[in-house]
Amino acid sequence: MHKILIINGPNLNLLGNRETNFYGNTTLDKIKSLCEEQCKKHKIECVFFQSNHEGELIEKIHSVDNRFSGIIINPAAYTHTSIALLDALRASNKPKIEIHISNIYAREDYRRKSITSEAVNGVICGFGENGYVLAIDAIINLIKSKAND
Ligand code: DQA
Repeated sequence: MHKILIINGPNLNLLGNRETNFYGNTTLDKIKSLCEEQCKKHKIECVFFQSNHEGELIEKIHSVDNRFSGIIINPAAYTHTSIALLDALRASNKPKIEIHISNIYAREDYRRKSITSEAVNGVICGFGENGYVLAIDAIINLIKSKAND
């Protein structure tokens, strides 16, 4: 059974209370349930992870090896700052999707540049919590097309 890793960066543990104009009222626990439900539909497993620490996010990416078939990541603010996270993502040869709840291209200038997106197959942003569901569907397609290489 395929297993995917869903990684969430800093401050995403505050969803539900945090800037609801951008992120809505959903909580990270609700997003986790949504992801688990979608993975169940596709008969795959997912591991959901959140950390406020750059190093922990990097080490989680390092741990992927052959235990996971793909990575979905919302690097949160590290999207715009972290070359270290970019390098960790680059070092993994698994399919990778970056996701953002808000449309980062419709916000402040400093959010309009994603450093980490250079290392991923594609980016989904601006669809709220549903972006995670879209990312799961998309990563399954990438995993399947990789298997048929
Ligand atoms: C975010 C967008 C980032 O700019 C921000 O720092 C976040 C959340 C999003 O999901 O929309 O923390 O990644």
